[in-house]
Amino acid sequence: MLGTFTYYNPCKMHFGPDSLDSLTEELGCYGDAILLTYGGGSIKKSGLYDQVKSYLDKAGKTVYEVAGVMSNPTIEKLIEGCKVARDNNVDLILAVGGGSVIDYAKAVSVCAWCDDDPWEKYFARMEDPDNRIIPVGDILTMSGTGSEMNAGSVITNHKAGLKIGHVFGGDVIPKFAIVDPTLTFTVPDYQMKAGVFDAFNHIQEQYFSGTDDNVSDYVSEALMKSLVRNSRIAVNNPTNYEARSNISWICTWALNTFIACGKSTDWEVHMIGQSIGALTNAAHGMTLSAVALPYYRLIMPYGLPKFKRFATEVWGIDATGKTDAVVAKEGLDAMAQWMQEIGVVMHASELGLTSDMIDAAVKGAFILDGGYKKLTPDEIRQIIVESK
Ligand code: NZQ
Ligand code: ZN
Repeated sequence: MLGTFTYYNPCKMHFGPDSLDSLTEELGCYGDAILLTYGGGSIKKSGLYDQVKSYLDKAGKTVYEVAGVMSNPTIEKLIEGCKVARDNNVDLILAVGGGSVIDYAKAVSVCAWCDDDPWEKYFARMEDPDNRIIPVGDILTMSGTGSEMNAGSVITNHKAGLKIGHVFGGDVIPKFAIVDPTLTFTVPDYQMKAGVFDAFNHIQEQYFSGTDDNVSDYVSEALMKSLVRNSRIAVNNPTNYEARSNISWICTWALNTFIACGKSTDWEVHMIGQSIGALTNAAHGMTLSAVALPYYRLIMPYGLPKFKRFATEVWGIDATGKTDAVVAKEGLDAMAQWMQEIGVVMHASELGLTSDMIDAAVKGAFILDGGYKKLTPDEIRQIIVESK
C-alpha cells in the first residue's frame, strides 16, 4: 500500500563514458563565478582536473577553488568553503569527487549565505534552509553514497564527537550529475568495497521497514541482487565496465529517495556507523559493514517475515520444510558469506575502535524508530561490543 508522498528529484543525470561532454551544456546555464571543490588529489593524478579546467576555461568561467576536501568533511573545512563562496558571490558549486566532496558542496551551498552558526542551525537543530541556496553540480568519481543525486550532506564535528547527516530537501539536490563509471576504475580497492557495502546498506535501511506489499521492496530486491552479482565481478576485475557501470547506477538509485517512497525506513545501522565514524574517521561504508550483522541479527525476530523474504528473494535460500526463523538466519548467513568474499570490514576494532571508545560510540548513536525495533542504549552497546 502506498500512502501519500511527494517525489521530487530535479537532478539531470548524464551517465556513461562520454558524459563529461555534457559539462559544456550545463555550464551554459549558470553565471560566470564557479567554485570548484575537490578532494585530496586523486583528480589531479587521474588527469580529470585538467579536463574539467579546460571545459571551464572554454566556457569563459572565473574559477575559485577549495581543494583538500577530506573524507568525512569537517565543520572547519565547511567554514573555509563558505567564506570563499560568499566572498566571491559564486553562481555554481562544481563538486568533482566522491560522496565527501559532493556532500561538502551541498553543505557550502546551504551554509554560505547563512548568518547563524551553520553547525547549530543546519546540523545540530536540522532546520530547513531559509537563506539563499547556491546551485550545485557534480562529477562523480567514486560510487557508493548516492550523494550525486540526493539532498543529503554529512558533516563531522570532531570537537563535539558527532557526525551528522542532514537530508535538506529538493532545492539542495544537485542540479546535474555527471556519472562516468570509467572514472571509478582508479578508486582504491578498499574504497570501492566500502562504496559497495554503503549502497547495499542504503537499500537495506529502506527495505527493512513496513509490513505491507510495497513496490519499493521489489525494486530493492532487484537492486540488491544485481549489486551482489556485480560486486563479485568487480572485486576480481575492477576495470570490468559492465560491472562497474551497473554498480554506479545501483548506488545512485539506492539513495535518490525513489525506493523510500511509501516506506517508513530504518537508518539505525547508519546511526551506529556514523557514531563510530565520528570517533575513528574510518571509511563510511566500512563502519556500516562492521555493525550491520550484529544489528540485523538482533532485530530479525521483530521483522521475521521481511527477513525470510530477504533470504528467499535476494539470496535464493530454499525455504522448503524450514521454519521462518531458520530461513531468515540462512539469509543473514549468506549475506555474511558475501561480505567475507568481497572483503569488507566485519569488526569495528579493525577501524580503530578501542574499548575505551565504546561509551562515546553508544552516546553518539541517535536512536530512530522507523525500523522493526526501536533500540535501547543497552542494545546499541551490545551491537557495538559484538561488532568489535
Ligand atoms: O580525496 P581524493 O584524493 O579524491 O580521494 C578519495 C578519498 O580518499 C578517493 N577517491 C575518490 N574517487 C577516486 C578516488 N581515488 C582514486 N580515484 C578515484 N576516482 O576515495 C576516498 C574516499 O572518498 P570519499 O568521497 O570520502 O568516499 P565516499 O564516496 O564513500 O563518501 C563518504 C562520505 O559521504 C557520506 C559519508 O558519511 C562520508 O562522509 N555519506 C553521504 C550520504 C549522502 N549524501 O546521502 C549518504 C551516505 O550514507 C554517507 O553517510
Ligand atoms: Zn551510507
